[in-house]
Amino acid sequence: MPGIKGPSDYSQEPPRHPCLQINSKEPFNAEPPRSALVSSYVTPVDLFYKRNHGPIPVVDDIERYCFDITGLIQTPKKLYMRDVRMLPKYNVTAILQCAGNRRTAMSKTRKVRGVGWDVSAIGNAVWGGAKLADVLEFVGIPKLTSRTQSGGKHVEFVSIDKCKEENGGPYKASIPLIQATNPEADVLLAYEMNGEPLNRDHGYPLRVIVPGVIGARSVKWLDSINILAEECQGFFMQKDYKMFPPSVDWDNINWSTRRPQMDFPVQSVICSLEDVQSIKPGKITISGYAASGGGRGIERVDVSIDGGKTWLEASRFQKTGIPYISDHESSDKWAWVLFEITVDIPHSTEIVAKAVDSAANVQPENVQDIWNLRGILNTSWHRVQVRVGHSNM
Ligand code: MTE
Repeated sequence: MPGIKGPSDYSQEPPRHPCLQINSKEPFNAEPPRSALVSSYVTPVDLFYKRNHGPIPVVDDIERYCFDITGLIQTPKKLYMRDVRMLPKYNVTAILQCAGNRRTAMSKTRKVRGVGWDVSAIGNAVWGGAKLADVLEFVGIPKLTSRTQSGGKHVEFVSIDKCKEENGGPYKASIPLIQATNPEADVLLAYEMNGEPLNRDHGYPLRVIVPGVIGARSVKWLDSINILAEECQGFFMQKDYKMFPPSVDWDNINWSTRRPQMDFPVQSVICSLEDVQSIKPGKITISGYAASGGGRGIERVDVSIDGGKTWLEASRFQKTGIPYISDHESSDKWAWVLFEITVDIPHSTEIVAKAVDSAANVQPENVQDIWNLRGILNTSWHRVQVRVGHSNM
């Protein structure tokens, strides 16, 4: 596509914040320290995790940058940034969470394949852009369409980056047409993140944001949109980001037996403490994030200071001055909820967090029960060990 290209090496990578923990250098995959996540409701762009499968694309002429909308529609079209900017602009506060968040911990019980992540492959941002439902209406697909006249039922997003999993081809993914054309689903073609133009790492000049769904479907550096009869057949939809039971391993896997993961389950993580942390006896404030997929709110966050025998309810909040009520119109349905509780810790113990979403889904107790070979969706109870010392610490 004119105006943008996907390099085949890593000589033109953008600068990055030095405090990111690098999990893989090429392609660049990095996450902030966990304490950064609870420092603010909206995650600063610099500290937002970066998840890439190839070198970062380079825009050489934004005026010429455009993307095609093709496939099973009456009139295929080429759209420029000015066309997208002409449509009503929406700001949607939404988290992105990589399905591989907390993979390192899953790998400790039994080895899994994939880039290792601690608990920070997640961030909450204000995404600005046009609703995909408006863009598709602009090219002749009405709102709330589940099937076009020519049989299109899925919307595929194709990037410009070069990924080795696609044998040097671009990253791609799809979502159902009914979700794409539903304005309430808030799927965006975003050109801003936290009020600034997207930076290169996060998809400049244009990316998809699919709220409530694993980050893998929010394709960056958009090159084309295709209306398809079947879901996207790319690697990351068909041979990755699928959830298998613990009995399936690399010698007996049959990828076609499972559907691509879309919504993510309920999750919560303690961010104010490391996995093993020394503290002085006395009061501490435990804080972290909780989030659920599909726009479901967080009904409760329970914290245990005795390894899960008894539980205390933490307070939940999003925006200052507005009490958080799950699934209420005053809350940001696609965003995370931060939680906090102050407790007295007199001796060494295990602290645990688990969240309950508005459909009463609860996090599973043990990581072993949800172990899967690709190490996705580790949403097991989050546990940290505190060592209480009475001497100088
Ligand atoms: N889009 C493209 N083109 N290439 C990618 O490698 N990674 C996906 C998604 N979109 C990816 C992509 C994955 S797995 C995730 S979790 C999110 O982007 C991460 O977005 P971020 O780097 O802006 O945090």
